[in-house]
Amino acid sequence: MPPRIGTMRIRVLIAVIILSDILPGCAGKIDMKTGQTLSGQPPLVIAHRGASGVLPEHTLPAYARAIDMGADYIEPDLVITKDGHLVARHDRYLSGSTNISDMPEFADRRRSDPSHEGLDWFIEDFTLAEIKTLKARQPREGRPKGFDDQYDIPTFDEVMALIARRSAETVRRIGVYPETKQPSAFAAAGLRHDEAMLETLAKHGYDGEGAAVFLQSFEMENLARLKSQTSLPLIFLTETRPDFGEIAKIVHGVGPYKKLLLDDLGEDTGFVAAAHAAGLAVHPWTFRDDQIDAKFPDIDTELKAYYGLGVDGVFSDFPDTALRVRHNLNIKGLQD
Ligand code: G3P
Ligand code: CA
Repeated sequence: MPPRIGTMRIRVLIAVIILSDILPGCAGKIDMKTGQTLSGQPPLVIAHRGASGVLPEHTLPAYARAIDMGADYIEPDLVITKDGHLVARHDRYLSGSTNISDMPEFADRRRSDPSHEGLDWFIEDFTLAEIKTLKARQPREGRPKGFDDQYDIPTFDEVMALIARRSAETVRRIGVYPETKQPSAFAAAGLRHDEAMLETLAKHGYDGEGAAVFLQSFEMENLARLKSQTSLPLIFLTETRPDFGEIAKIVHGVGPYKKLLLDDLGEDTGFVAAAHAAGLAVHPWTFRDDQIDAKFPDIDTELKAYYGLGVDGVFSDFPDTALRVRHNLNIKGLQD
């Protein structure tokens, strides 16, 4: 079935298309009045797992590529080794994004876990020294495999050192957006993200008022605990629409699955307006050039629709695309 773009009635999308595509010379700077961000500033582009569309995710080269592309924030997902070190991986299990299945010395560490189908290797069973013997692999079908088995698994400290160094070199305010992955599962193994994460951020100057940091988690209990330890802004990740008033007591914003914002016909669900009314920023995920929502004919149209809603940021595996589309919207303030 062809995309139903002709039936879409997103006023903001139409406004954006008319102003930015049809009359680019006449539009000048547009204010996005129908879809204003909470701060009135342009939406942030968050490099999801680095420039993960082109390089193996959560590696220093993938983060560096995202910085080169101009991403505003770099997103590391954080898991914890047996000896308490934070490392960047999306999952506790290691078979998908590393070469561990080819390492005979670890063959007897494979086990089952209630969170995962089949046998696998789990990060909390390995020391950092052991993790450092692994190499990263591209976990998603259809993406380049040519960089497999070349890059190390980075610690959070190494990620922060890269971001801080590149911020200084480029005189840019490059932000970081770490996610505590499965904190309750790690707690069951006697491991905790909070202190090590906050200490590492502070070590690299990412603390205090106005620091370019968002801390994110799917677990509200973890966010509530973090609130008692830091004033850094917190983001609640969710696949369902939350009680905005309730979560606003703890967090600065919400990171929703993107389809909570536009229904199957492309209608605005009112999610952004309700979140903004509660004072919450909205950062939807995940925008992928190679996995576009079927409602849209192409990634540019998809991103324009979400920017037009007034989202405060987008997570993208292809930050260069999200930046290009944002640039072409010619949003007031961005190119001033
Ligand atoms: O953190 C935003 C987004 O990444 C949440 O989903 O599973 O890709 O971490 P996931
Ligand atoms: Ca994440």
